[in-house]
Amino acid sequence: MAKDLGVSPTIPEAGPRLASLKRLWPYIRPYRGLVLLTVVGALGATLVQIAIPLITQDVIDGPIADRDKSGLIPLGLLALAFGVAEAFLFFLRRWAMTKSSLAMERDLRDHMYSHLLSLPVAFHDRWSSGQLLSRASSDVSSIRRFVGFSAIFLVVNIVSCIVIMILLIGIYWPLGIFSAVAAIPLIYVGVRFERRYNVVSRQVQDQQGEAATDVEESVLGIRIIKALGRRDLVFGRFDAKAVRLQGLELGKIKLLAFIWAIFELQPQLVLAGVLVGGSFAVAGGAMTLGTLVSFIALFTVMVWPILSIGWLLASTLEAATAADRIFELLDAEPTILDPHDGREQRLGPGRLRLEGVGFSYPDASAPVLHDVDLEITPGETVALVGATGSGKTTLTALVPRLYDVTAGRITIDGVDIRELPVSQLRSQVATAFEDATLFSMSARENLALGRPDATDAEVAEAIDIAQAAFVYDLPWGLDTRLGEQGMSLSGGQRQRLALARAVLGRPTVLVLDDPLSALDVHTESLVEEALRRVLVGTTALVVAHRPSTVLLADRVALLDGGTITHMGLHSDLLATVPAYRSILSAETDEDGVLPTARQMQDEGAGR
Ligand SMILES: Nc1ncnc2c1ncn2[C@@H]1O[C@H](COP(=O)(O)OP(=O)(O)O)[C@@H](O)[C@H]1O
Ligand SMILES: [Mg+2]
Repeated sequence: MAKDLGVSPTIPEAGPRLASLKRLWPYIRPYRGLVLLTVVGALGATLVQIAIPLITQDVIDGPIADRDKSGLIPLGLLALAFGVAEAFLFFLRRWAMTKSSLAMERDLRDHMYSHLLSLPVAFHDRWSSGQLLSRASSDVSSIRRFVGFSAIFLVVNIVSCIVIMILLIGIYWPLGIFSAVAAIPLIYVGVRFERRYNVVSRQVQDQQGEAATDVEESVLGIRIIKALGRRDLVFGRFDAKAVRLQGLELGKIKLLAFIWAIFELQPQLVLAGVLVGGSFAVAGGAMTLGTLVSFIALFTVMVWPILSIGWLLASTLEAATAADRIFELLDAEPTILDPHDGREQRLGPGRLRLEGVGFSYPDASAPVLHDVDLEITPGETVALVGATGSGKTTLTALVPRLYDVTAGRITIDGVDIRELPVSQLRSQVATAFEDATLFSMSARENLALGRPDATDAEVAEAIDIAQAAFVYDLPWGLDTRLGEQGMSLSGGQRQRLALARAVLGRPTVLVLDDPLSALDVHTESLVEEALRRVLVGTTALVVAHRPSTVLLADRVALLDGGTITHMGLHSDLLATVPAYRSILSAETDEDGVLPTARQMQDEGAGR
């Protein structure tokens, strides 16, 4: 049901977007002192830059014109002091800016991650991991650039432009107005450029992602590619993507080259105009030579702020879009919540009841489960049998509240599981799923994930039950790092670890979704033997495909058409329910496992 929330390369209207920038304030607030310091540093440095041309003017029109060397010393010292001040302010700005924006970025990213962990499984069903990753990485970075750079320089540069323009007009108004008016188109060009540039660089990024995905997929699937002899086909597809990437990169470079040409050319043209106009003014006595020099020097100070305003504005829009995308995530609400008082409840020995339970996935039209009634008494084991897609996995996910029922209720010892704190529920109910996920941690950490306080003896017992003694033979034993970057294990080994993880610490209620599917017959019977001992004291719901697993259970429930149609002893169901018989025998054939002697007897009895 993955929905494509594709990345939109167009940059939307400014109006409504800026509102989401305001919502960033709580993240900036703790660092507002540093932000203020950044603004002060940046503004101060620019003002000093402005002051130096003014001193130059005094030097030229004073000591130089008068050939008075003694007048040079105080002005020279002043220029030196300003130079040192500029260097200091520059340092101050960089330091405060980096410190505040990195801290803000970390807070925002931490908040997003913890929010993601709090969101229900139903949310993660809808969002692809690529979408989440791009929000957590590139969107957060673009917010950092905005907070630490664009926002500050937008303010500072607008202020400096205004100050310099006033000065220029004050020095010699005809030239001042000329250079101010000539600058206006640059702002427009800057905005246009940044928007185009954003689109192109997004495309480049997406294309890089595409090519990387290709490589990743083919490395993971290298066996299949080789076995099917599709090397050339796969390479051809990659090559096409690489060629497109090259084209996009070239387009990006062209755009950059073009804009820099304009940015370089325009000030030179204006400068030429100023020089010509200025020379006439000096010749006509309207300006002194020193004033012309300082006019030109001031003008050069103004070039960068003017050039930047356009793209700073556009990058503000980009940050607003990023903020929108981030808040889209942060606004998703955790729906699996603790009850209001949040207090732990006293529970009994673990009587699990499903009363009229119904469930439909969000966005799905038909319910997967309806009117499911099931009671498992303390210590009893019920096997859940049903065809593929009948809703077995869904049913097991309802017990630890990975999803909440959409009708009816589930109780443990008479208490609705929605009235238990989620942490209490999940410490009572242990689960193991079909796909045994292991994390990049040591084997011990993987095992004790649900019970970090487990003792060594408990870990050893769980390993024993799950027939997972192979972990002791790993290079570093229990300390061997497993998972994606660690030791790779076979499917059966992973399942046994997942099973050990579930039975560790002897939970009251155990929910196993087909935990033995990847085991060979010999290991399976060993695990079953050990599991039988655990199941004696545990209320358990075990999804089963094979007759041998079903035989672990006291009773069997047949799930068909979204509800439990039959409930009873394995032998009775085999004898009386053709649907049950066909599911179990189909699975048996598929696995290539011969029916057990006892089952054959049962089958015979049924006919
Ligand atoms: N995350 C999901 N979102 C929407 N539909 C789902 C999801 N997971 C499973 N389904 C659908 O629910 C039905 C039952 O699936 P499942 O519980 O996995 O069956 P089983 O474990 O018995 O094979 C199937 O039709 C499946 O397509
Ligand atoms: Mg399943």
